[in-house]
Amino acid sequence: MRDQRESMLILTQFAAEWYTKQLFDSDEGKRIGLSYFKERGFTENTIRKYELGYSPAKRDAFTNAALKKGYKIEFLTETGLTIVKEDRKFDRFAERVMFPIHSLSGQVIAFGGRIMRKDTKMAKYLNSPESEIYHKSRVLYGIYQARKEITRRNQCILVEGYTDVISLSQSGVENVVASSGTSLTPEQVKLIKRFTPNLVILYDGDPAGIKASMRGIDIVLEEEMNVKICLLPEGEDPDSFARANGAQAVKDYIESNATDFIRFKTGVLLKEAGNDPVKKAGIVSDIVKSISIIPDGITRSVYLKETAGMLDMQEKVLYDEIKKIRKKRF
Ligand code: CTP
Ligand code: MN
Ligand code: MN
Ligand code: MN
Ligand code: MN
Repeated sequence: MRDQRESMLILTQFAAEWYTKQLFDSDEGKRIGLSYFKERGFTENTIRKYELGYSPAKRDAFTNAALKKGYKIEFLTETGLTIVKEDRKFDRFAERVMFPIHSLSGQVIAFGGRIMRKDTKMAKYLNSPESEIYHKSRVLYGIYQARKEITRRNQCILVEGYTDVISLSQSGVENVVASSGTSLTPEQVKLIKRFTPNLVILYDGDPAGIKASMRGIDIVLEEEMNVKICLLPEGEDPDSFARANGAQAVKDYIESNATDFIRFKTGVLLKEAGNDPVKKAGIVSDIVKSISIIPDGITRSVYLKETAGMLDMQEKVLYDEIKKIRKKRF
């Protein structure tokens, strides 16, 4: 098992270096991949820091290069870099710019690849499959590059995507990681908690971003972390916002828009409910559920007070409700 893991990690490292070499040294890589990254405003430093790369259009370019170097097909398929179909071998990633995913200790354990072709219905991003070295629910994109800054600032910013992490970090906001298209998991939150109890969720300013923020809240509360939510203006993601407005604007925006989770959640739910009294009652129970998750009693009562005010309800009513839920649960 150990040997297998090690062999896979040696291969993924080789792959990352090979993709980077294609990006900087091959004509195709420079023309398609490097110019794309440059257009997005990524500097060479940034590209090197995140070990970005390019996988050529030829459907078996990487697989052949790896086999020629003596890497075994077994590990090529185990890592998902190669797909075998009816005795033919294909690269999983072709004609894509490559984003290696690093473990906490900096080993390359998987890849995300962004499509370059515009005339296709294939998914914009393709990711490595789960494997012995890659459990996507336990990994956060960018954690290796961000861990020191997360500790230093005693805060972690969570974004949605690869390019959000890279853009923010290049613009000077380096305490940033991404859940990369999956909804936030308890393991990911525990990973962040090793470095800081303070989390800011900075998701895209669209309905999907709001929904994902709402789902993240309870998971973060359960781990006794302080969570704030900051939504970007409609249509923006952290990458576009950082590029258009610069690092200081990002910091200012977070500073003045990061909302306490309870205000955020209450606000979103109230807006959804409109004047429907049944829906309003549903909100109360939903928010009470969130508060009841908070392990610390004092923190709970602080939130209770605030919520009662926002919903214009008696504290005692909410208090009894929370007590009931906690009794059932614990
Ligand atoms: N994602 C994915 N598979 C997809 C779409 C998205 O894994 N088909 C993940 C990627 O990690 C992506 C993140 O979800 O970075 C956020 O998605 P999205 O906002 O659509 O992409 P961006 O990161 O903004 O990418 P770009 O700016 O290149 O369009
Ligand atoms: Mn395992
Ligand atoms: Mn989005
Ligand atoms: Mn984007
Ligand atoms: Mn986005």
